[in-house]
Amino acid sequence: MDQQRAPLFEKLQSFHTKNTASFHVPGHKFGQDLEPMEELFLGQVMQIDYTEITGLDDLHQPGGVIKDAQLLAAACFKADHTYFLVNGSTAGNLAMILAVCQREDILIVERNVHKSVLHGLMLAGAKAVFLPPCIDEDSGLAAGVSPADIESALTAYPQAKAVLLTNPNYYGIGTALRPIAKLVHSYSIPLLVDEAHGAHYGFHSELPESALACGADGVVQSTHKMLTALTMGAMLHVQGSLLDTDIVQQCLSMLQTSSPSYPIMASLDLSRRLMAVHGTEKIANGLEAVKWFRQEMKEMTSFAIVQKPLMDHTSMDPFKIAIFDRTGTLSGYHLKQELEERGCMIEMADPKHAVLFFSLSSTRGDSERLIAAFRRISEQFGLKKKELQRVITNINTIPRLTTISSPTTLNLPHSISNQSTGIAAKTVRIKDSVGCRSAEMVIPYPPGIPLLYPGETITGEIVECLQQYIALGALFQGAKAIHLDQIQVYNH
Ligand SMILES: Cc1ncc(COP(=O)(O)O)c(C=O)c1O
Repeated sequence: MDQQRAPLFEKLQSFHTKNTASFHVPGHKFGQDLEPMEELFLGQVMQIDYTEITGLDDLHQPGGVIKDAQLLAAACFKADHTYFLVNGSTAGNLAMILAVCQREDILIVERNVHKSVLHGLMLAGAKAVFLPPCIDEDSGLAAGVSPADIESALTAYPQAKAVLLTNPNYYGIGTALRPIAKLVHSYSIPLLVDEAHGAHYGFHSELPESALACGADGVVQSTHKMLTALTMGAMLHVQGSLLDTDIVQQCLSMLQTSSPSYPIMASLDLSRRLMAVHGTEKIANGLEAVKWFRQEMKEMTSFAIVQKPLMDHTSMDPFKIAIFDRTGTLSGYHLKQELEERGCMIEMADPKHAVLFFSLSSTRGDSERLIAAFRRISEQFGLKKKELQRVITNINTIPRLTTISSPTTLNLPHSISNQSTGIAAKTVRIKDSVGCRSAEMVIPYPPGIPLLYPGETITGEIVECLQQYIALGALFQGAKAIHLDQIQVYNH
């Protein structure tokens, strides 16, 4: 296979050169009505914003250039089958779950998953057996799940249809997947991995192994997050025979638009080519930038960067920087705000950490801007002169599941509404919600990991955590009036 080629992108280029007249969608007809300023930004992209016209194949039944591009991607990422996704890893997680679970089936899954995994369970009508996260003592962050817990869950629920893990998490912390894949396969079920943040894994010796290399059967990657695709561009890879690829394709056809974006798919093709041809060298360049940043930050002792947890089974993505103020002056949210006021927009924050994503495209120039911003923040808040708190302090109060849950149903919104069940939802002050079941999904965003799903019992610990998040200015999805100190719950 010629990895130097980008068949889908090349085909779009050649169509553009033919200068055909468009009597098909999209209605913008290659951007003919753009004003000059709009043209500057969108004009070029609209030139290749085609649809499934003759010669451009069909994402839902690929047999031409899209098939060729997906075959090249499968070879590059070492999968048996690769599916292009135009609705991010979200579509991939939904499809993987729908492909393995029917109503009442059990999926063994971490509690700390992206909302798309919980939505997949809802759509499938499947039950979750939630695994508690391991906690890194130093940082207080979740650090994967323990193989022992997975084994216990499999022993207790041998009828489970699959195990689904996130690797790595938003902070770059991951789990060694090889032994887990072996364990899960001993039950003849697939290991599914949400590798949304790890599409670059396996392309350089300083990066952790990819989930596919470790033996995972279904792997979802946001090519747009850590590689170079346009936003929403992602891939679902499958290997082995534990996932039925016909069903996967059918699920994707149900979930994805019938008008997939050719610019997004072409960017997936180009991203694959970049990795196949220059991957190691590009990653090495990005690593240079992030290593330089880490080195310079060593002088600013009032800040600390979260290190790889000491636990054996964990791994760390060097491109993810979770950094915090050791003097306790600035919360993660405050640090984020200060960095942003100095022109450095960052991925997210939590009460303690500001989380910064580098990538293979990061440059030394980017790192220099960031260092300059940190120096100014340090000076403005006089951090150098302040006393350091304990070398590493764990102020994260995120409530943690501590044991393996019993099989849990996650209801679709309509199945828990008033009309269908007669159970009324009511609005209460957050402090009064302890012991109630949440009627809303409460999702600090980013990272998009729900603190509460509908039906989950609200504990005192969760209330405390919510109050802390709100006080520190966290943004939420799902909960309508959380900033008014209100939450929707079911009557006891
Ligand atoms: C762990 C994880 N999985 C899945 C997703 C969804 O990815 P996408 O935005 O590509 O749909 C995200 C998004 O942030 C994520 O953090």
